[in-house]
Amino acid sequence: MDPVRVISDYVRFPSVSTDPAFAAGMAGARDFAAQLLAGAGLAVEVEQTPLHPIVLGRRTGPAHWPHVVLYGHYDVQPADPLDQWASPPFEAQVRDGRLYGRGAADNKGPHTVGILGLANLLKRRPDLPLRVTVILEGEEEIGSPSFGGFLQKHRAELSEADFVLLSDTCSPGGGQIVVTTGLRGIAGFELRVSGPRTDLHSGLHGGAVLNPIQALAEICASLHKPDGSVNIPGFYDGVAAPEQWERDELKKFPLSGESYKKFLGVAALYSQPDVTPIEATRYAPTLEFNGVGGGYQGEGQKTVIPATAFAKFTCRLVPGQTATDIVEKVRAAVLARVPAGVRVEVKVTQGNDAYLVVPPGKPNAPASAKPALARAFAAAETAIANAFGSPPLFLREGGSVPIIGDIKRETGLDSLMIGLFTPESNLHAPDESLDLDTITRGIAAYESLLEQVAAAGR
Ligand code: BES
Ligand code: MN
Repeated sequence: MDPVRVISDYVRFPSVSTDPAFAAGMAGARDFAAQLLAGAGLAVEVEQTPLHPIVLGRRTGPAHWPHVVLYGHYDVQPADPLDQWASPPFEAQVRDGRLYGRGAADNKGPHTVGILGLANLLKRRPDLPLRVTVILEGEEEIGSPSFGGFLQKHRAELSEADFVLLSDTCSPGGGQIVVTTGLRGIAGFELRVSGPRTDLHSGLHGGAVLNPIQALAEICASLHKPDGSVNIPGFYDGVAAPEQWERDELKKFPLSGESYKKFLGVAALYSQPDVTPIEATRYAPTLEFNGVGGGYQGEGQKTVIPATAFAKFTCRLVPGQTATDIVEKVRAAVLARVPAGVRVEVKVTQGNDAYLVVPPGKPNAPASAKPALARAFAAAETAIANAFGSPPLFLREGGSVPIIGDIKRETGLDSLMIGLFTPESNLHAPDESLDLDTITRGIAAYESLLEQVAAAGR
């Protein structure tokens, strides 16, 4: 079957996990995923969770066969703002060599690539000595609240596997594939500043009370130093510079500061001490504001001192930091900076540590890694070089897939992550898309990788 057609049909189900109005879309995507797995020759099971069910596909076999866990998520982000899409988000469309639609890149396209690679392989090699467990969850975009319970229930089965394989990370494009060696963690916060008991006329009372928006702005502005670094005591404790081999990989990264500025549409990059822009997005922690509000937001002007104001922000975390520690440091710093006359409530919305998988053979690779991981990384290097024409770069990622760290902690499994979307893919934004050539080559790479893993034995 034509892979582009398969992904297009999958995209048609609006599986927005955060919004209960999309329950039918979630169910449709789930049924579609189940059929996809059955079509690949796997035994399918849909497991209920407190929220969105998890779709499982299994190929069982004797314990001496290698056992790969394939992960993906069938849920997507909301498609808003709808009027900014060139074609309807849930009617996939091919334009200029790309497939457009919500979920085309994050993550329906990439995990379908993996499943179709496996399907091709099993069709060609029906007796292949390989065990596979496919896990497709429906809550990744809302922080995977049900995944912890799922891991506990399946800990024995999963701990016995060799490694996790997934494509939910980014590559630079131009045919250069990245094998992702780290994910940043994330800590999320909401600040609510409260001042007077009610909104006030700014002529009657202006000058006598501290405006909650002003207080909020001062607190927010205090969270960075003029040099761009995060201004929270101890924020950088334990953060290490990239290893030499990582710097060598970064040198091969095909993106200049000039082209990055052009891509972003900014006149200047915002730099921080001692890191290049690429390093800053992948190897360093950040604090970014995601939303801010308060007061009058309508047309024209309203002379009001609002009673409250809020801001939402997230920290991306790197190895050496822990979410628990950063949460306490951020909370303490914010509360120490509250001016007289307002109250501040700090709500913590999420906390996940970073994840690191050092390619076996590199100087800082842990000796504790399962032996199968080395074979998997070697197989990926060959498979990607053959399918894409050049070997992968091994780089850490700026984004977060929190469950990958949870899987490591609960089951000891490491993850082999192959980046199939690119910055042009517009993740979480209008006109999300996936490159068609990457779909074809990606399927070939997965097929070759899994065949090599099976051949290597345990
Ligand atoms: N696929 C992304 C993660 C990602 C984004 C990797 C960009 C590489 C580059 C994933 O679906 C995602 O969006 N994750 C969230 C995590 C959050 C919801 C806890 C993220 O990174 O913001
Ligand atoms: Mn994703």
